[in-house]
Amino acid sequence: MATSIPADRVPDMGKRQLMNLLLLGAISLPATGMLVPYAAFFAPPGSGGGGGGTVAKDALGNDVLASEWLKTHGPNDRTLTQGLKGDPTYLVVENDKTLATYGINAVCTHLGCVVPWNKAENKFICPCHGSQYNNQGRVVRGPAPLVSSILSIPLTFNHFRPFLSLDSFAALAHADVDDDKVIFVPWVETDFRTGEAPWWA
Ligand code: FES
Repeated sequence: MATSIPADRVPDMGKRQLMNLLLLGAISLPATGMLVPYAAFFAPPGSGGGGGGTVAKDALGNDVLASEWLKTHGPNDRTLTQGLKGDPTYLVVENDKTLATYGINAVCTHLGCVVPWNKAENKFICPCHGSQYNNQGRVVRGPAPLVSSILSIPLTFNHFRPFLSLDSFAALAHADVDDDKVIFVPWVETDFRTGEAPWWA
């Protein structure tokens, strides 16, 4: 003979489902919180910009904002920022007070010194062995042609060439502006200064 269960002891299905949901949430939230950084550990380091780019940083390590930069950097200005792979890279202001769409890698192609901009001479002049580059990074006076970028750029066939011609050039990066941030992107296309493939790509 069947015995009936008192009504106050029959499980309330609504409450049970609610408790299950709360339990599931209590488990899944911390688990998700642990998984996200775990997954991030295996992801490549963030570039700070899309498409393999990196946000340019100023001398204080702050993101370079194009609008702010142009308030304090006038025509023909070349100022060092931190670029791709941490390379010192000149941000260029054109004579019409716009940012150039390219940045110039400041690592001397001779033996790797950082080359300062000499505004009075309108040139980059390397303090180490006297190489000079014009305002777009073309070598105009030796000894710069030796490729020195071994220190900062992955080895390629080009690095085993003992010399470049005196027509050699400092490496370029695209300088794009996205949401007012200046973003350096690897330059792999034809070098607009030579019409040839870039030696650094
Ligand atoms: Fe620049 Fe030698 S490192 S001239």
